[in-house]
Amino acid sequence: MYYLNPRLVNLERIFDQNERSSYLRLDLNENPGGLPKTIIDDALSEITPELVAEYPETAHFTKVLAKHIKATPQNICLTNGSAEAIRYVIEAYTGENGKIIGVVPSYFMFQVYSEMYGRNFVKVPYSDSLDMNIDDILKEMTDDAQLLILLNPNNPMGNVYSDEEVAKLIERAQEKQITVLIDEAYHYFYPKTFINYALSNKNVFVTRTFSKLFSMAGCRLGYVVGQPESVAMVQKLTTPHNTNVFALKIAEKVLTTNGTLDTLIDNFNQGRAYLINWLDLNNYKHAGSAGNFIFIQPKTDAEKLVEHMKSEKKILIKSYPNVGKLGDCLRVSIGEQTFMEQFTKALLELDK
Ligand SMILES: Cc1ncc(COP(=O)(O)O)c(C=O)c1O
Repeated sequence: MYYLNPRLVNLERIFDQNERSSYLRLDLNENPGGLPKTIIDDALSEITPELVAEYPETAHFTKVLAKHIKATPQNICLTNGSAEAIRYVIEAYTGENGKIIGVVPSYFMFQVYSEMYGRNFVKVPYSDSLDMNIDDILKEMTDDAQLLILLNPNNPMGNVYSDEEVAKLIERAQEKQITVLIDEAYHYFYPKTFINYALSNKNVFVTRTFSKLFSMAGCRLGYVVGQPESVAMVQKLTTPHNTNVFALKIAEKVLTTNGTLDTLIDNFNQGRAYLINWLDLNNYKHAGSAGNFIFIQPKTDAEKLVEHMKSEKKILIKSYPNVGKLGDCLRVSIGEQTFMEQFTKALLELDK
């Protein structure tokens, strides 16, 4: 008899992220400016026909990355974007109907994977004032829970956790034997990291990506960090040769070319400061800018603004309904000042 996994029939996925290249793309938290062209040229100049013909060799790059994050190569499993890393942690560390605790709203793939694998995703909502009360998370950390997902900072809410809050959550997780996944996709925009927990606890993982500050979303490269025996279990789930030589070369150039990361961070900080200052001067309420994105309460209808930004200004942004006390909001990716100027000029014209 033909078989189809019944979980797939009603599983909702979004695959409409195409034909965006002629727009200013402030909708998916990419870096609209991208990497300096010299980095790309440098990396490509080392790509030979032989390298392209070979399956990618990851050992050298993993060593470079390990040095950067002050860990060992055995602490790292490379993945095809961190979305893949998240999937593997869920697959490896939760079982059929297993309870997964996650805050909402948040990166939607946590729920998609939970549904795909038949897990029980338990939502912990934000308060109206857009805060996350960790007591609400602690309450859900019951004996039957298998995985707690934290984002540092969260997308789309842009909130962060204090050292004390994370210490409390990890302590409870250990008491109840719950694995913890900390998604640090937006690390560098907000420098605090909880990677030390992953390096020192068997059941704590951190996932990171090269898609955001590293401006390499088109290359698909991410990784999981954890203790060697735990990461080895994640590694077992990977498809053979799940990363590619272009991603590895470009990422290596970013990590090893003096000043590149600092310049990316400086440019971003300048863009963020400009945008926030402009919003304050123009009486816009906004929230959650710890990542490379921000919620803005528009003066007119959020959904219509998204449409007009696209059709009249060639700018892509997103709308989010019912964002606590802010109501219907725009979520806008933050990039270099020049792109923020383009956006604020458009907002001034359209939002009245
Ligand atoms: C919180 C969070 N985690 C993970 C990802 C996945 O990113 P990637 O698969 O490009 O590494 C995203 C993408 O937007 C995200 O917002």
